[in-house]
Amino acid sequence: EKAGFDHFMMKEIHEQPKAYRDTMMGRIAEDGKSVQLTELGMTADYIKAIRKIQIVACGTAYHAGLVGKTVIESLARIPVETDVASEYRYRSPIITEDTLVIVVSQSGETADTLAALREAKRNGARVLAITNVVGSSVAREADDVLITSAGPEIAVASTKAYTTQLIAFYLFGLHLAQTLGTKDQAYVAEVLAAMKNLPEQVEQVLEQKTVLRQIADNLSKHNNLFFIGRGVDYAVSQEGSLKLKEISYIHSEAYAAGELKHGTLALIEDGIPVVALITQEELYEKTLSNIKEVKARGAFVFAVVNAGAEVEAAKSVDELFAIPKTLPLLAPAVAVIPLQLISYYASLARGNDVDKPRNLAKSVTVE
Ligand code: BG6
Repeated sequence: EKAGFDHFMMKEIHEQPKAYRDTMMGRIAEDGKSVQLTELGMTADYIKAIRKIQIVACGTAYHAGLVGKTVIESLARIPVETDVASEYRYRSPIITEDTLVIVVSQSGETADTLAALREAKRNGARVLAITNVVGSSVAREADDVLITSAGPEIAVASTKAYTTQLIAFYLFGLHLAQTLGTKDQAYVAEVLAAMKNLPEQVEQVLEQKTVLRQIADNLSKHNNLFFIGRGVDYAVSQEGSLKLKEISYIHSEAYAAGELKHGTLALIEDGIPVVALITQEELYEKTLSNIKEVKARGAFVFAVVNAGAEVEAAKSVDELFAIPKTLPLLAPAVAVIPLQLISYYASLARGNDVDKPRNLAKSVTVE
């Protein structure tokens, strides 16, 4: 049942190329120039009337939503708010009929997310569910459903569900963009072509997993570490940090790279590992200057960089891992893979039960 892998988590990490393909299948026009989300009941007039989007979810699904916010705002220029579902209902969110609420849930059964969905509907919003389970409560109660075709996810720590949620956001963001005309057809085609390369690029990362095992073995000797990144790299940092904490029980904190100096820079002491994500070329120099700040305080910096940037980055960091280069917006779908593998190997190095971490359930049906 684990298909030759020692744990479900590792099996599911390896299923991601297929999960990406399955989630894209049938949703891209044959000429590769447009997205076709025929399952959505939204008319073009409805989409043109959307004034605000709220993305609501828990845990890892929430982290996918953080990437989704950037994706939608940059492709469709519609303002997006993100909320953890357990907070959403109690902050008296401003929900109007021109608000689209997107709930994200692997299981489709998370009580907090379901309660948020009901609150949104009560207030007249349309609800789109991004979920992995056909016929789940969330899928049944939402107005529209985008199924992620990750297949069953058994390991408590989510991997392929998260990445296919990213794919769903890319597709939906492009769907909005082509309906609203915020991006031209050539651009949409360029993004779609890059998306089709993602499975192959993920394979390339998986082929190098032994390198990541060594890195994880070293990180697992520490009790505290940091993740830093800017833009979508910050969103991926938060997911990488959560994954590590969930299964290795190593404490870590994800910081927006430029915010560290406004906060807990004092905690960067000699030898503290800092995992830096630098996939966003526009922000490269800025993040590099933050890396210098932590290096000056003795941090050990492990960086995830784009292929092609290794030589330059190697001058400023202690260790690095290069991922195949894609469009900046799509980088999370590749950059998270080494972080998943590091969490897996760190958990293994610490002798933990990788698939069943303590005090954590796969799906929580109480609020
Ligand atoms: C938590 C799980 O309880 O719920 C997380 O432990 C998960 O792994 C989160 O990300 C949300 O679950 P779901 O099914 O709504 O995506």
